[in-house]
Amino acid sequence: MPDEPVPPPRRTAVLISGRGTNLESLLNEKRAGKLPATEFILVLSNNPGAKGLDIAREHGVPAIAIDHRGFRKDREGHERAILSVLQDHDVEFVVLAGYMRVLTPVLVGAYEGRMLNIHPSLLPAFPGVRGQEQAWEYGVRVSGCTVHFVTEEMDGGPVIVQRTVPVLAGDDPDRLAARILREEHKALPLALDLLTRGRLRIRGRHVEILRGNSSYPLLERELPVSLPLLIATGNAHKAEEIGAMLAGLPLSIYTTEQIDTPGPGEVREDAPDYEGNARLKAIAWQEATGKWTLADDSGLEVDALDGRPGVQSSRYAATTEERNRKLLGELRDVPEEKRTARFVCSVVLRGPRGEEHTARGVLEGRIAFEPSGDGGFGYDPVFLPDGYGGESLASLGPEIKNRISHRARAIEATRPALERISAW
Ligand code: GAR
Repeated sequence: MPDEPVPPPRRTAVLISGRGTNLESLLNEKRAGKLPATEFILVLSNNPGAKGLDIAREHGVPAIAIDHRGFRKDREGHERAILSVLQDHDVEFVVLAGYMRVLTPVLVGAYEGRMLNIHPSLLPAFPGVRGQEQAWEYGVRVSGCTVHFVTEEMDGGPVIVQRTVPVLAGDDPDRLAARILREEHKALPLALDLLTRGRLRIRGRHVEILRGNSSYPLLERELPVSLPLLIATGNAHKAEEIGAMLAGLPLSIYTTEQIDTPGPGEVREDAPDYEGNARLKAIAWQEATGKWTLADDSGLEVDALDGRPGVQSSRYAATTEERNRKLLGELRDVPEEKRTARFVCSVVLRGPRGEEHTARGVLEGRIAFEPSGDGGFGYDPVFLPDGYGGESLASLGPEIKNRISHRARAIEATRPALERISAW
């Protein structure tokens, strides 16, 4: 595991309503030297009698009650009061640890992607109050707890961590709740550690857990962890294609548009060959972002043009249409049998310690007399791969293209290296 720097502790508030054992477990973990990326700034309760407020003070964390009963059914007004305290304290992350109020868009919107909740059941089963009792009454054999991002749907946000417990003979709701609570006290610190270390990425309903340092390596063994991989391209089509080719590997794929660290600026692509250009991009983006980076460079080599446009393919004319028009123009008088050509792609994968893997893929074919098909991009509409009945790469559809293309072949050849690096 590379020694990644721990980011400065993130300012975190915990919202509670009652006894506060989850809060206490977080504060104990912090005291024991865990959660280095989390700083507990504040504990807030809607209930002035909450025992958890005393626990916070014992740990030296300021504790404030904002009684909802003072707001006479004005939920949003209550939350605006809470929000203004959170903002006054520059709180970045919020943990709901037994906070028994349904939230409104006031708080949810302000902390989207930055607020966690712990719930005592395996969601989506048994949301709402008394999840443990609901599970016992239903008669399930397994229950547990869930830590999830908070969205406007009650107990419905993307899941970060779940831990299970069996329901045993002789159980009653209290015995089951106590068994679940022990797992809650593991799940919540684990999820908060992942959040404050910047290791979570929300993708629709799925939360990707990125590889990185952890306070809980043993608990983490039960989680699916993925390696962040930057595809050094701003071309969304290309990134999508590469993403589809790498499906099934434990990778979290980013394009240059999706990362929050600044890029290297304009990268000169003036190497004499594809591999050289791919390497220039891979090194520049890897060094700027610290992430494993995959870059490619590809081109179209037309025999009747002595291999042009080749490494100049993307600079052959200003736009895709102009490039295709220019190519067809240059080949106007060239008969079918002399229109042979190939797409070539070089891929360079660079790691944070200068690790490098290179691969190359080739797709043989011919240049058409006119463009056809509306899939793909670049020269795809004028390229007819061998063995596909004269159909252009743009008309074969993404499934075939992603299997046979020069890029697919180069990426496929990189797969063993990606499997190795994502496994250690
Ligand atoms: C915990 O079991 C928590 O999962 C649950 O309240 C309890 C609070 O205990 N939360 C919910 O039911 C939210 N819907 P604690 O105050 O001892 O942490």
